[in-house]
Amino acid sequence: MKFTIKSEKPATVKTGCVILGVFEHRKLSRAATEFDKSTRGLLKKLLQNGEMDGKSEQTLMVHYPAGANCERVLLTGCGKADEFDSRTYNKAVASATRAVNQSGATDAVSYLAELDVTDRDSYGKVKSLAEITRSSLYTPDQLKSKKDKNSHPLRRMGINMAAGEGRIARKALIDGIAIADGVELARTLGDLPANICTPSYLASQARKLGKTCSYLKVSVMDEAGMKKLGMGSLLSVSRGSREPAKLITLEYKGGNTGDKPVVLVGKGVTFDSGGISIKPSPTMDEMKYDMCGAASVLGTLKACVEMELPLNVVGVIPTTENMPDGLASKPGDIVTSMSGQTIEVLNTDAEGRLILCDALTYSAKFKPEVVIDIATLTGACVIALGGHAAGLLSNDDDLADELLAAGKTADDRAWQMPLWDDYQPQLKSNFADMANIGGREAGTITAACFLSRFTEKYRWAHLDIAGVAWKGGHKKGSTGRPVSLLTQFLLDRCTD
Ligand code: BES
Ligand code: MN
Ligand code: ZN
Repeated sequence: MKFTIKSEKPATVKTGCVILGVFEHRKLSRAATEFDKSTRGLLKKLLQNGEMDGKSEQTLMVHYPAGANCERVLLTGCGKADEFDSRTYNKAVASATRAVNQSGATDAVSYLAELDVTDRDSYGKVKSLAEITRSSLYTPDQLKSKKDKNSHPLRRMGINMAAGEGRIARKALIDGIAIADGVELARTLGDLPANICTPSYLASQARKLGKTCSYLKVSVMDEAGMKKLGMGSLLSVSRGSREPAKLITLEYKGGNTGDKPVVLVGKGVTFDSGGISIKPSPTMDEMKYDMCGAASVLGTLKACVEMELPLNVVGVIPTTENMPDGLASKPGDIVTSMSGQTIEVLNTDAEGRLILCDALTYSAKFKPEVVIDIATLTGACVIALGGHAAGLLSNDDDLADELLAAGKTADDRAWQMPLWDDYQPQLKSNFADMANIGGREAGTITAACFLSRFTEKYRWAHLDIAGVAWKGGHKKGSTGRPVSLLTQFLLDRCTD
């Protein structure tokens, strides 16, 4: 998709499709009113005839409007004008994109970024227009030999802005496209099956990303290296699989030397069968998505590179399969983590925390400003928050607030849960320093409590993305979350 910033009148612009906003009830936006005047009241007539009311996500395509230079005009419902916020704006952009893409128009000019959005400035509107347009067109057809081909796909999108806003709009466009590229990378990796997207494959993808930028350094540690560092917990998970585990590190140095980095740690279980505590068969295929934390770290770093963010960011990705091989951990096995703490593995399906704990101990070596781990960690989080918000737990409330705010801005929200000491006793083991499970109650919190025992040396937050990283059922597919949240968090740190 090629985006350009424009400043032209809607009735005179030459394009396959002009996209205009309409509010409830049949209230034309400024650009739509102007268009209506040039086309002798065409839009008002259609609305009066009941063709459309302006409800959120409604669209109405009109062909060859007399008096205008475009081949089509798409009216896009935006809901109530005084309640038009970033979430409704994003929905309008998404439904407009889908409608235009199916219409045969290969280019379009959108007037949606000119609308007043209660919680967004011009920069934010253009940035999300690029992001949402791109993500609305994503299809997971990488491995289909015959693609459902659209012979006239949408290829060029003009974004109309007031003449004085060109500079800010162009900056927003660069950022929006960078984030769209990051989200797309995360989705593509997530949707790949586990026989292709192995730990070694993730490592090769990281190396490939490293080649695109001279100040992104990528290194991959193999199992021998992990053994030397004493990562007995991570290695206990990979022992059950034929695929060798990898510990991937990506160091992006966009900031000054000496600036402490933000460290992002992503769970990269490329397939989670549960191990000896094997999972039931229905929907087990979805456990190919158990590397979406890792994918979000790669996607976020890709966006950092493209935006040339003036920050230091480190990505750390422990990646392995969780399989029930003859060498796999057995319930009751006790392993020693890199921190020296011993862990009784009461359930081999609680493997995410076992690989993260060693990656978190390892992360201290970067002398981090903050550490954020991102993981499809608990089914309990899906029960608690569904597919709407990621679970957020932190040992630092300022950091938690920053992440919550970034999630709101990016429309990629998180919701905080408590990390009170009251929950810690659930992890007691009779035989080791701790057990790897804390019982049925508060499963998301006890998983975070487990991780908190490895993060005492720095400010840390944990994002449980089990509910948001992919959609199941009919619309099965990766979402790319929380790349938008993470990039927004990093962007917000640049303006300080
Ligand atoms: N990857 C899963 C978490 C998961 C399950 C995410 C379902 C999305 C949907 C994780 O490794 C896991 O299996 N967690 C267990 C922990 C339990 C054994 C304490 C869970 O949530 O059931
Ligand atoms: Mn598991
Ligand atoms: Zn898992």
